[in-house]
Amino acid sequence: MTRYLLVSRSAEYETRLRRLFRARLQTLPGEYLTFGVDEAVDRVRDTPAIALLGPLLTLRETKTLSETLAERHPGIGVVVVREQRADLEDWVEEVGMHAVLSPEATDAATESLLERLDDWLVTAGRAEAPEPTGDEADPQGEDATISLVDLLLKPESAVEEPAAVATSVDVVTEEVPEPAEPEWTLPDVGGVRTEVIAVAAPKGGQGKTTMAVNLATGLAEVAPNSVVLIDADLQFGDIANVLDLEATRGLAEAVDAADDEVLIKTLLIRHHDDFFIIPAPRSPELADTIDPARMGALINRLATMFRYVVIDTTPGLGEHTLTALEHATDGVFVTSLTVASLRALRTEFELLVTLGLLPQNRHIVLNAVEKNTGLVVADAEPIIGAAPDVIVPRSSGVLLAANAGVPLIHNDPRDPAAKAVRILVQRIDPDAYPTRRRIHRRSRSHESQ
Ligand SMILES: Nc1ncnc2c1ncn2[C@@H]1O[C@H](COP(=O)(O)OP(=O)(O)O)[C@@H](O)[C@H]1O
Ligand SMILES: [Mg+2]
Repeated sequence: MTRYLLVSRSAEYETRLRRLFRARLQTLPGEYLTFGVDEAVDRVRDTPAIALLGPLLTLRETKTLSETLAERHPGIGVVVVREQRADLEDWVEEVGMHAVLSPEATDAATESLLERLDDWLVTAGRAEAPEPTGDEADPQGEDATISLVDLLLKPESAVEEPAAVATSVDVVTEEVPEPAEPEWTLPDVGGVRTEVIAVAAPKGGQGKTTMAVNLATGLAEVAPNSVVLIDADLQFGDIANVLDLEATRGLAEAVDAADDEVLIKTLLIRHHDDFFIIPAPRSPELADTIDPARMGALINRLATMFRYVVIDTTPGLGEHTLTALEHATDGVFVTSLTVASLRALRTEFELLVTLGLLPQNRHIVLNAVEKNTGLVVADAEPIIGAAPDVIVPRSSGVLLAANAGVPLIHNDPRDPAAKAVRILVQRIDPDAYPTRRRIHRRSRSHESQ
């Protein structure tokens, strides 16, 4: 029989608790919450005495979970696993919980808290006494100096007014060691205007992702750790693949966390070229859950955290792409040199002008240009109604870089397509003029990986 239930989005924390409680713990990956809290709770086996909620769940998820669990398993003890932060009191007010536990708390403190809560639940008649499992962890840390349980746990007969619970949370500080220095910090963007660059195209396969990835890479050379690349190509986003990254979370989770900067930071994937990525939703079902307005809120939030926000979009002008363009300072429009694409781009411009959503700065990229196709670059302007700003030749280097999982401008800086993409980067940030040395060092650092 499992005694404890953990619902969390942190694989690391899950592994730690499994090691600590082994057969006494069942886990429910937070990802299941996407399908609805009821469905997730359906998966819970037995009747756990205590549910640990977190880390990395949103306030809304935690609240609904604690309510649903209390309904299905009356008497269940609820522990919220979360750092103590300024908003913790809101959580205490909103979520029916018995204790708050820092994910950084030592094993001994964690065990001790759960054992004491468990004892109290049994004494209060809310849970059956645990069956001996023969798999008990060593009873260490019995007299660990935990006062928080004493304060947070009150036998029901002695429940005071709820406000008392909120103030008692202060005690959690005792259990929270100073957070370890993060590996990276976001540079302060205070005072500098953030540029939000949406990369759009009326059709797929024109080179949006190639431009978005290389823009982020080039901008990160001038603004290291201050660039975030969002893969908002909801159905076919492939930035994680092109950059050879493992993505367990993506845009759907980030949109959910739009109000919580700290949570957003935990969802970012860092690329070793000094920028951050929010990958595309992991499934079409998840993509469907993304509300365009909330995506707009996420873009706004990221704009307060980063110097540059680069957004790869879904082809065409669906709601999400319009949202991205609406929030963008710069629109990069990618087209190939074919009559159909050029005409589609013209129609797109006309529509954006009508809607008043054409970003302030506009860059037209004519991509994968090659000879002998019946059209020449000069044919583009009359069809689009505006002159292309950057001409990128077709080059095998683009595919080679994608297959190597390395951004083109670093995989082969001398490739003609790479040189053209640099011109685009410099249109956004004229300082993005890396020295030859920097390019070489970066190419080499990829080779050794
Ligand atoms: N300038 C180019 N030369 C050669 N191949 C290119 C070029 N630009 C893009 N490609 C290739 O075309 C395909 C589509 O490009 P991609 O950037 O993924 O487009 P989108 O994101 O618009 O669908 C990819 O296989 C990419 O490697
Ligand atoms: Mg793409």
